[in-house]
Amino acid sequence: MANNEDIFKKVIAHAKEYGFVFQSSEIYDGLSAVYDYGQYGVELKNNIKDYWWKAMVQLHENIVGVDTAIFMHPTVWKASGHVDAFSDPMIDNKDSKKRYRADVLVEDYLAKLEGKINKEVNKAAKRFGDSFDEQQYITTNPRVLGYKEKTEEIKKRLYGAMDAEDLKGIKTLIEDLEIACPVSGSRNWTDVRQFNLMFATQIGSLSEGASEIYLRPETAQGIFVNFLNVMKSGRMKVPFGIAQIGKAFRNEIVARQFIFRMREFEQMEMQFFVRPGEELKWFEYWKEERMKWHLSMGIPAENYRFHDHDKLAHYANAATDIEFNFPIGFKELEGIHSRTDFDLNAHQEYSGKKLQYFDPEQDKSYVPYVVETSIGLDRTFLAVLSYSFTEEKLEDGSERVVMKLPPVLAPIKAAILPLVRKDGMPEKAREIMDKLKVDYMCQYDEKDAIGRRYRRQDAIGTPYCITVDHQTLEDNTVTIRERDSMKQERIKIEEIAQIIAKRLKA
Ligand code: GAP
Repeated sequence: MANNEDIFKKVIAHAKEYGFVFQSSEIYDGLSAVYDYGQYGVELKNNIKDYWWKAMVQLHENIVGVDTAIFMHPTVWKASGHVDAFSDPMIDNKDSKKRYRADVLVEDYLAKLEGKINKEVNKAAKRFGDSFDEQQYITTNPRVLGYKEKTEEIKKRLYGAMDAEDLKGIKTLIEDLEIACPVSGSRNWTDVRQFNLMFATQIGSLSEGASEIYLRPETAQGIFVNFLNVMKSGRMKVPFGIAQIGKAFRNEIVARQFIFRMREFEQMEMQFFVRPGEELKWFEYWKEERMKWHLSMGIPAENYRFHDHDKLAHYANAATDIEFNFPIGFKELEGIHSRTDFDLNAHQEYSGKKLQYFDPEQDKSYVPYVVETSIGLDRTFLAVLSYSFTEEKLEDGSERVVMKLPPVLAPIKAAILPLVRKDGMPEKAREIMDKLKVDYMCQYDEKDAIGRRYRRQDAIGTPYCITVDHQTLEDNTVTIRERDSMKQERIKIEEIAQIIAKRLKA
């Protein structure tokens, strides 16, 4: 059986071969952690956006959308805390010139210790056979106990140094553990420095004194700075939300997990403004609502889990992640945070503008509290793609790769296929195509044997194949083939649109 790493590699190769995702600037050897979406990828991505927008904006009468600029006034990022605190501790190896996240180097070391423990346990399990008691072994074996003690000691030092922002302490830990650069093998390290993740650029002409601005690292701040504009122009009443989908940019250093961690990516965020004191009730509401949204796509619940944060950011009073079972393990897909009045207060202070709401029921003004839902579009794409990727052995011994995408997200909803390229079948198929394509993304295909055409549609996740055959010309019926079961039914041409519409809703 293929392991998860193999599956991940296959998903990446499939995404490229079938026009979902390409490496950016590939003909120039690519740009690291930057990706382009191809002809089917863009459709899938747009469908995910629509599915989110519909659930969040169209179905919630008290949520409206915005589309704010990527460039913002530089003070926005001072107020939000990103200038001072949006950074990772980095260390460079002087020989290989490679840069690493210092904490990740130590965590990799910890993972190796964990591997050693597992090796000891597996060895003992083989030696003792059925009588092996794993729990007893790991609590008594001196070698295992030694590894465990070392693990705990390293964790204490690492997290203690991180909390205290003790960069020297992190470097000393790396030296004490004799961690070497994976590329050069040397232990010739620079000091640890904080490295801000924001990309900076210049606005205005250099000759007239351009000023430095940032590419936004999250879309949320575009919502906060427009809080007053939207509230006033939309006559919004608390509780209400503002949603946005857009690009965000982070100079990620550890970026080697395909579209899981990118330098340019898209977020789908919503800030929900509530009465102070009611935020934890709304936090629970959004936790449940967002999980329901994920499950509504039809991916089984065991692939999702909540991960409540024990350690909260200074501005949050509750936070959870929705994690997804990616081929690289359970990892964060979405964050739901109760951000208190931190952001609006900070912008109020830095801008000098009052960012308050007058509550007619309470007859007073206040800075609303905020509950945020923030999901990565590209990560959702990866979740859907990797879950849907299926290799099947069929009864006749042949194999097929099928993308079992939720039909509502599939790039192409129906393929229209004349059985052969003669006897009036292409013309009839074109007629059907021309009608159907007004409402659905469809594909007409007459090249190769019908079996190969079905496989091509399976590989891009098309839920329905409509085949025009000899009988069609006699009685105006076609066959409709369902992707997952491969079952075929005969239906009337005039029923096609209705049947597809019904099944896409199911
Ligand atoms: N406004 C809150 C915020 O930005 P975050 O946890 O930093 O919170 C939210 O990001 C979501 O954005 C994550 O759950 C993830 O899905 C996505 N995301 C963050 N960094 C990413 C990256 N480098 N590449 C792809 N997606 C990313």
